[in-house]
Amino acid sequence: MFFNNSNSSKDDFDIDLNNVPQHIAIIMDGNGRWAKKRGLIRKMGHKAGADTLEKISRCAQGLGVKHLTVYAFSTENWKRSDEEVAGIMDLLRKYLDEHIKKCKNDNFKVNMIGDPSRLDEDIQEKIKTLESLTENNTGLFLHIALNYGGRDELLRATKKIAQKVESGELKSDEIDEDTISLSLDTAGVPDPELLIRTSGELRISNFLLWQLAYTEFIFSDKLWPDFDESDLKEAIFSYQNRDRRFGGRK
Ligand code: IPE
Ligand code: IPE
Ligand code: MG
Repeated sequence: MFFNNSNSSKDDFDIDLNNVPQHIAIIMDGNGRWAKKRGLIRKMGHKAGADTLEKISRCAQGLGVKHLTVYAFSTENWKRSDEEVAGIMDLLRKYLDEHIKKCKNDNFKVNMIGDPSRLDEDIQEKIKTLESLTENNTGLFLHIALNYGGRDELLRATKKIAQKVESGELKSDEIDEDTISLSLDTAGVPDPELLIRTSGELRISNFLLWQLAYTEFIFSDKLWPDFDESDLKEAIFSYQNRDRRFGGRK
């Protein structure tokens, strides 16, 4: 379903709090266009996008969502200008530092997915610090996809499985869907029930290719920095009115 948020009757979505998705995935798109519309440099759009992430994570936690997986930087985003990539990495450093400072108060459990090896070492260190400082928190699991690509994740998972077969730890005919799920970066996390993509683009851009097999999709025209709590509630409301059949019949 494609919905357009031009009708802004706010916060009147009658969400069933007993049927909130356990896991919501978001493709946070549209930061560049948001900045351009305002005559700002792209980095300012990414900065506004980081503020929106903050707001939406809090709202999701308040609604009882268990896992929020957000696409922050794809394996393809390295194709952008050096200036833009450096700007995003700079904002990422600030985001990590701020969360390291306040992580005992906001109760998120932060977990990065993607291949960290291409990120600068200081960023890799900050990620490890934040993950370990928040591992005993009890609130929302915030999974941040950084240098993440669904194909890259499947490739890395395939290599892990092949190594187990080579070493004799696993027989090839023992490989099943769980073997694959448990070899992905999202091992142990239930598949998202709901995916939201902002900015009007109708594609998944290499996000969670395995995990989205039966996910409900919501495409919003809003640019990510403009996405707000009532948009999240509207998306959940729309999800709650879907008929999920999983290939079966009622
Ligand atoms: C999403 O916003 C953030 C990243 C991909 C890092 P964009 O930067 O893609 O914004 P648009 O799509 O150009 O508006
Ligand atoms: C997807 O957005 C990646 C992130 C939001 C991090 P892009 O802006 O990179 O995707 P395309 O290029 O429009 O498919
Ligand atoms: Mg984009």
